[in-house]
Amino acid sequence: MIGMDPMRPEGDDRRTPPDRRRAGVIGWPISHSLSPRIHGFWLSRHGLDGSYEILGIEPERFHLVFPTLPGQGFAGVNVTIPFKEWVLDYATRVTPAVRKTGAANTLVFADDGTIEADNTDVAGFLMNVKSSAPDWSARAGPAVVIGAGGAARAIVWALLGEGAPAVTVVNRTRSRAEDLCRHFGERVRSADWQGLDGALDGTATIVNTTSLGMTGQPPLEVAFTPDRRRALVVDIVYNPLKTAFLAAAESNGNPTVSGLGMLLHQAVPGFSAWFGVRPEVDDGLWEAVVEGLQ
Ligand code: ATR
Repeated sequence: MIGMDPMRPEGDDRRTPPDRRRAGVIGWPISHSLSPRIHGFWLSRHGLDGSYEILGIEPERFHLVFPTLPGQGFAGVNVTIPFKEWVLDYATRVTPAVRKTGAANTLVFADDGTIEADNTDVAGFLMNVKSSAPDWSARAGPAVVIGAGGAARAIVWALLGEGAPAVTVVNRTRSRAEDLCRHFGERVRSADWQGLDGALDGTATIVNTTSLGMTGQPPLEVAFTPDRRRALVVDIVYNPLKTAFLAAAESNGNPTVSGLGMLLHQAVPGFSAWFGVRPEVDDGLWEAVVEGLQ
């Protein structure tokens, strides 16, 4: 376990001073995370006395360790695999985004002992797209979401909320896409992986939520043609910053949005709640985080 001592006895001198707020990310395994860089940048920008720590918790110890976090000075945590659903057992309040996606990535521990759970990928996706492509409107036409994991759920929900008339979910494992569609109702339908190309005609928004294109993975290959030039093309992969999928869309003349901004924007609500300052996603943050990409 890295950076925490859940068994620290009451009265121990090394206890966190009461004004010093702690936050972090819980998960297992957590080998590399850009979140400490994001929150560390904002803490120093705003001159705040706080910390953002990587908290690797072995799954067998989760139920022992998790309830001790508020007592150790944590104002809240981000949550990653495999705990995004597990933490819901402890949530006193959940946002509509959590209800609809079934997963939380941000928890706020209130002083009265309550725990609020949010899925900030929904807002993070929309903030990223709107700030990078201000002319985009989900209402302009159907959307295609490639992939059917947790990120896809958040993005389908975000697109529906923005008024996308229809969303087609295309996934390698069709049954996962079908599960997702059942969950969201009639505006969402699934298509086979082989049906990806056909699904792209006439779309206003195309989003990759799979890990294809990530460093070390094969690229996501899509035929961008002049008649598809209108579609906004979004990748949630951020390493590399410009995937082959985005580069192909860009050469075709499509507007494109890269994935790093979603990671940055999804961090804003947590930081605001934990440290009491709403931070900016600006060029300084962008540069600090890009430096951390391996
Ligand atoms: P997350 O919660 O981050 O979205 P996930 O649940 O592991 O992650 O989902 C990863 C997505 O990438 C899935 O849609 C997965 O497809 P399957 O459901 O068929 O596993 C997709 N994916 C990963 N590797 C892929 C590959 N080589 N080809 C096509 N899709 C792939």
